[in-house]
Amino acid sequence: MAEKILVTAALPYANGPLHIGHLAGAYIPADVYVRYQRLKGSDVLFICGSDEHGVPITIRADRENVTPKEIVDRYHSLMKRSFERIGVAFDNYSRTSLPLHHKISQDFFLNLYRKGYVSEQSVQQYYCPTCKRFLPDRYIEGECPLCHKQEARGDQCESCGRWLEPDQLITPKCKICGSAPDFRTTKHWYFKLSEFQKRLEDWQSSKTDWKNNVREFCSGWFQEGLTDRPITRDIDWGIPVPLPDAEGKVLYVWFDAPIGYISSSVEWAQNQGKPERWRDYWLDPKTKLVHFIGKDNIVFHAIVWPATLMAHGDFILPAQIPANEFLNIEGRKISTSRNWAVWVDEYLDEFPPDPLRYCFEANAPESKDADFTWKDFQTRNNSELADVIGNLVNRCLSFVEKHFEAKVPSPGELCDADRAVFTAIAESINRIGSALEDFQVRRATAELMDLARLGNKYFNDAAPWTALKSDRTRCATILNTAIQLQAALAVLMEPFLPFSAEKLWRMLNAPGSHRNRRWHDISGLRLPDHHPLGKREILFSKIEDAVIEAQIAKLHA
Ligand code: MF3
Ligand code: ZN
Repeated sequence: MAEKILVTAALPYANGPLHIGHLAGAYIPADVYVRYQRLKGSDVLFICGSDEHGVPITIRADRENVTPKEIVDRYHSLMKRSFERIGVAFDNYSRTSLPLHHKISQDFFLNLYRKGYVSEQSVQQYYCPTCKRFLPDRYIEGECPLCHKQEARGDQCESCGRWLEPDQLITPKCKICGSAPDFRTTKHWYFKLSEFQKRLEDWQSSKTDWKNNVREFCSGWFQEGLTDRPITRDIDWGIPVPLPDAEGKVLYVWFDAPIGYISSSVEWAQNQGKPERWRDYWLDPKTKLVHFIGKDNIVFHAIVWPATLMAHGDFILPAQIPANEFLNIEGRKISTSRNWAVWVDEYLDEFPPDPLRYCFEANAPESKDADFTWKDFQTRNNSELADVIGNLVNRCLSFVEKHFEAKVPSPGELCDADRAVFTAIAESINRIGSALEDFQVRRATAELMDLARLGNKYFNDAAPWTALKSDRTRCATILNTAIQLQAALAVLMEPFLPFSAEKLWRMLNAPGSHRNRRWHDISGLRLPDHHPLGKREILFSKIEDAVIEAQIAKLHA
């Protein structure tokens, strides 16, 4: 039976274009994993969508002096397109402003409310007398009580990563006008998170295969003791709280956003013309639910969301939460407001998608923050993709064109060196597969590149150009072996370099789509004798220094 896997990637806020920090943290690792699982023949559903509520959206709208709707409409379509262009292949990319999502979230809230897991509380909250409004979350800024950096937000300090409540800030200020706020009484609904501590701890104690960053983060929270959390807000953009006495209140964005995983699945099922299909995933305990996220989302995915799911009771709980660390650029933290960022669309206007994907795969921020530099990008493209994979393919296929009429040469008897290539392919398949099962994209990528390196070394050592003069059958055997290796590489590249994998498959003129191959059959893949090869193309073009210097200058501009 195929394993059933429901993969989600954090719903990005539709408050700006997609940048490379997004890609490296959640989306590329998720896409690599999903493409691998598809080759394995698993039954995978890959879900995402835009997170269109909350203060991150309204702040952007305030700043640009447009409505929140204009903001989310603009960035939702931009992001969707960027994901397609970089090859992140969601089965569905939804958005949380859809009526479908509003309805599902309100039903979810009411379900918890009726079960007694939601309680109404009267609370004191910051209010800006100048702006005449309550100041939730990021509407308030001040000094972090822990690291003492200024400009910590009311919900989190970006510097030390600490999750905050607005009243913990030292010298709080209104983000919009800078005034000192005062306190006013308001009413909110709280989710009784404290009641779930024991269940959460028991549940997590069995998750010994979770990454350390997630486990350590959670154990810190458990040690402090979980407290009830407000799941409503005083802003006028979001999902109305579905209660009679809740005029002007909306659901907190972190309450509705993860429910977006469910509503995106429902929308997918409807688009398939099988509106009940989402249940096969969300209601079946055999489904493995995997949430790919960045480290700033750990508390929500590993604590609050599972507790919400437990409270509701109908749905499965996450099986894995691969959380990645952050990506810096040229040694500095990404800052979209200071334009210290590389925007995915701008990149794609000048370069192909695969070299960027490769950078984040080879240098994934798995156990610590990673750094993207344009120089490193150039080196990886030129000395790894072009010089290792591209070179192997080009040397071998041009040789076959010239001396064997562009047809797969018929081999003689294999010698030890040839057999070693086939053994290496089989071993790489296993090692790449087991690394990806463990969410270790970096290790898997290194294995892929090692196999291509081995191919180059084999080709050099076997020296088909010498054999051509003395022993044409030996020469044919070498070329045949090298071509079979490339066929295997084309499939193995699919999770990492999907565009190039397809191109290589076409160059080999291999039948059907490489995507229809099965991971465990890759080592048995053989292009038959005299099989005509396709048209040779450049797999990876080298990138000149001047091009890289221009990008560095643009970043600093
Ligand atoms: N929009 C959030 C962020 O960018 C992530 C939401 S993930 C979900 O940090 F679970 F809520 F969907
Ligand atoms: Zn103000």
